[in-house]
Amino acid sequence: MSDPILEIDGLDIHYETKGEPVRAVTDATFEIDQGEYYGLVGESGSGKSTLAKSIIGGLDRNGGVAGGEIRYKGTPIQDYSETELSEKIRWKEISLIPQGSMNSLDPIMKLSDQAIELAQTHTDWDKEEALDRFKDLFEVVGLPEERINDYPHQFSGGMQQRAIIALALFLEPSLIIADEPTTALDVIMQDQILKYLDDIKEKEDVSMLMITHDISVVFETCDSMSVLHGGQVAESGSVENVFDMPRHPYSIMLKQAFPDIRFPDRDLGIIEGQPPQLREEVSYCTFADRCPWAEEACREAAPPLVESDVGDTDHEVGCIRHDEMGELASEYLDSVREESTVSD
Ligand SMILES: Nc1ncnc2c1ncn2[C@@H]1O[C@H](COP(=O)(O)OP(=O)(O)OP(=O)(O)O)[C@@H](O)[C@H]1O
Ligand SMILES: [Mg+2]
Repeated sequence: MSDPILEIDGLDIHYETKGEPVRAVTDATFEIDQGEYYGLVGESGSGKSTLAKSIIGGLDRNGGVAGGEIRYKGTPIQDYSETELSEKIRWKEISLIPQGSMNSLDPIMKLSDQAIELAQTHTDWDKEEALDRFKDLFEVVGLPEERINDYPHQFSGGMQQRAIIALALFLEPSLIIADEPTTALDVIMQDQILKYLDDIKEKEDVSMLMITHDISVVFETCDSMSVLHGGQVAESGSVENVFDMPRHPYSIMLKQAFPDIRFPDRDLGIIEGQPPQLREEVSYCTFADRCPWAEEACREAAPPLVESDVGDTDHEVGCIRHDEMGELASEYLDSVREESTVSD
C-alpha cells in the first residue's frame, strides 16, 4: 500500500478564550491513504471543522495545535511558514471547501479573476486555458459559464457555495477537504456534486476528507471513516467495519439515529444531550455522560484507540468495553424496537 497522504497523529487543538481554553480536539489519530475518500462524522460541536481547518493551517486566530502532528505527504504541516502554506500547499496541494463558504470568496474580485490569479500563481496554464477549465467546472457545479465574470455578491448563497466548490477543484489538488460541501444546496444539486466528486476519484489520483452530518453520504462516497465525539476519535476504519459492525457506543447510537436507505422501515433511536464543550484537561471518555454503558473507569482515563476484533484489520475503537459492545448493542437495538412498537 502507498504511503498515506495525510496523517493526523495524536492531535490536540485548543482555542484561547477569556477563561480556560476550549479543548476542541484531543489526541485525534487517523490517516488517509493516497486515492482514498475518508469520511468524518459526528454531531455539531464535535470538532470536525476545527480539524479540517488545522490541516491547511487555517484555524481561527485564537486556535492552535497544542500537541501532536499533522503530516501531509510525510512533512509536518506545522513546519511550513505562512508564506509556504499559501504558495505551495493551499489550493494546489490541499483545497478546503469551507463549511458555509458564503463569505470565503474575495468580494472585490470577479470569479474569473480569482481563478486566473490562482492559475498564474500555481500553474503554467495561460489565461485562455485557465478560463476554459474554470468554465468547465462551472458547468459541473450547475452555474452558467458566462457567470464566471460576475462578482460574488451577484450570486445567491447556494451559487456562491457552488463557485467555491469550482475554485477548490480548479487546480486539481491532491487532497480535497470538503466541510459539509452540499448542506446548503438542494437535493438535485447535492447529487450532481457528489456524483462529480465520485467520478474524479476514478480519473485522477485525488484523496478526500469529507465532513458531513449525513452518515448516508459517507456510506455512498467514502472508503474509510472516523466518528468524532467531543474532539475524540470514537471509532475509525473501513466504512464497512464502522458502519456494519460499530463497536463504540456513540457510533452504535449515531447509526441508529439516522435513517438508512437500505432499511427504510428501521426504528430510529435518539441520543440524549449534546457533545460537551470542554474546558478542562480531557482525561476521560467524552461520551461517558451520554453513554448507557459507562462505568467508573470511563471517567478516570481517556480510552485508548485499540484494534477491534471484529471486521478486517482496518478497525479501531476508543472504548474500554468495545469487546462487549456487540452483545450490549443488540440488547439496545431490541429496546429501540420495543419502544417504537409501544409508541406506534
Ligand atoms: N474560534 C473559536 N473559539 C472558541 N471556541 C471555538 C471556536 N471555534 C470552535 N470552537 C469550539 O470548538 C468546538 C468544536 O467546534 P467545530 O466548529 O470544530 O465543530 P463541528 O464538529 O464542525 O460542528 P458543526 O457540525 O456544527 O459544524 C465547539 O465546542 C466550538 O464551540
Ligand atoms: Mg463544522
